[in-house]
Amino acid sequence: MPNIRFRLNGVETDIDADPDTSLLAILRGRLGMTGPHFGCGAGECGACNVIVGDHAMTACDTPLWSVANKDVTTIEGLGNAQSPHPLQRAFIAEQALQCGYCVSGILMSAAALLKRNPSPTSREVKEALDRNLCRCGSQNRMVRAVLRAAEEMAAG
Ligand code: FES
Ligand code: FES
Repeated sequence: MPNIRFRLNGVETDIDADPDTSLLAILRGRLGMTGPHFGCGAGECGACNVIVGDHAMTACDTPLWSVANKDVTTIEGLGNAQSPHPLQRAFIAEQALQCGYCVSGILMSAAALLKRNPSPTSREVKEALDRNLCRCGSQNRMVRAVLRAAEEMAAG
């Protein structure tokens, strides 16, 4: 099997695997990153989103070979209970989740947006989250939470 190297949450990572395997299968099955969720498996729901470089991508239909030598960030690399990312704090403050299944993907889309655009408008947030499905109907609270996190990050 070919060896593919990429940086996962800032850590150099080598994996021997079929290069056409989906990034999601490698993350969840081989690397223990269970934050990205399997939803549709077809690039349409965003539950599996991770950040590659500066952009959110659906890991279920991203082949492993395509992330060689790139930076991949999963929700595990965004923040944790001891040191939450401002987005995670804001989602809790706005009670912007119900079942939570979609949320790790949504947080990664939002984090990629704030990386590229630290002061988005409400419309820009909605556009950035447009491809993430939430069956629980929490979208409006999520938009509020992203704007709240952006304000908090701008205030330092
Ligand atoms: S599981 Fe990847 S987009 Fe739905
Ligand atoms: S919070 Fe349940 S699917 Fe989004």
